[in-house]
Amino acid sequence: MNRIIPVASGKGGVGKSLLTVNLGVTLAKMGKTVILVDLDLGGSNLHTFLGIRNSKVGIGNYLNKQADSLESLIIPTDIDKLYFIAGDGLFAGTAHMHYFQKMKILKELPNLVADFILLDLGAGTSNNVVDFFIPFPQGVIVTVPETTAILNAYAFLKTALYRSSYRMFPPKSEERAMVQSFFKQRLEGSGNSLFSLADRLSELSPENGEIIRKMLELFYPGVIINMGRNPQDKDIGKNLRLVSRKNLGVSMEYLGYVPYMPDVSRSILKRSPYVMDHENQFSSSVRAIAERLQKLIPDTKIPLYEADEDLEQLNWDGFVQ
Ligand SMILES: Nc1ncnc2c1ncn2[C@@H]1O[C@H](COP(=O)(O)OP(=O)(O)O)[C@@H](O)[C@H]1O
Ligand SMILES: [Mg+2]
Repeated sequence: MNRIIPVASGKGGVGKSLLTVNLGVTLAKMGKTVILVDLDLGGSNLHTFLGIRNSKVGIGNYLNKQADSLESLIIPTDIDKLYFIAGDGLFAGTAHMHYFQKMKILKELPNLVADFILLDLGAGTSNNVVDFFIPFPQGVIVTVPETTAILNAYAFLKTALYRSSYRMFPPKSEERAMVQSFFKQRLEGSGNSLFSLADRLSELSPENGEIIRKMLELFYPGVIINMGRNPQDKDIGKNLRLVSRKNLGVSMEYLGYVPYMPDVSRSILKRSPYVMDHENQFSSSVRAIAERLQKLIPDTKIPLYEADEDLEQLNWDGFVQ
């Protein structure tokens, strides 16, 4: 069975695509078969970090019905065991995806033959991003050590938990209404976390509370602090974990800290992933993260309802400060 790891961030430009490619290369060098999927529709640029030209058939063709399966989109890279599914480079403006198209992609991903499938997602908390993150409890959130980026990472996690809690219950149910009103309150500083939501839902029926508690137990995202410039930046990852546990009731794995490397942009110009020809603090950090990812327990998918009748109307914007 493959391991599907979505890579997300609250804020753009934090290094998701760069890290996705370099993690993919590192895992492939460790002997794992890896498929990198560019799901940052509207902003696809994973090919640039791989040194591949933007002329490949990809997700855009699939969404425009010019390809019938994800499998047919897989292309080899110059690196042994590393494969790639391009984004929508040939179809500018496919950023909006229908819900059923997302569900189709999510159904096909587990059938692709690989050890790891890394999904490079777009930035922010839009449904297109969040819906690819929440089925997989061990997704990765990348942030940089700056206050706005950390707040955005936290907002992303909260949004993901909101949508996930919502989709644990059937459309138009009383439980969904309860989830919605719970998330409308201010959680931070209230002493409540999602465990309080579980308690409230238990009042409707005891299984409801269990559903949320089980989700909180399964949901175990990893955080990477990228572009660190001093050792204290490491503490930021720890703080994000503490705040998430206190306010949301969710534990996170601190996957690692990746330093800022001024020569990274040169490797992009050279069209060669950075870790291919550098042995330094960056490559050893990425290697440590790749090792940690392999040690995590295999995914159990979060059981979400797929019906979308009352999903699109949810408004998530309130979280981002
Ligand atoms: N650790 C790093 N050191 C130096 N530059 C980096 C590092 N991580 C990312 N970058 C640079 O930051 C920019 C944004 O990275 P990118 O991966 O495109 O971000 P995202 O996918 O999150 O939008 C790129 O130019 C990238 O080369
Ligand atoms: Mg990117």
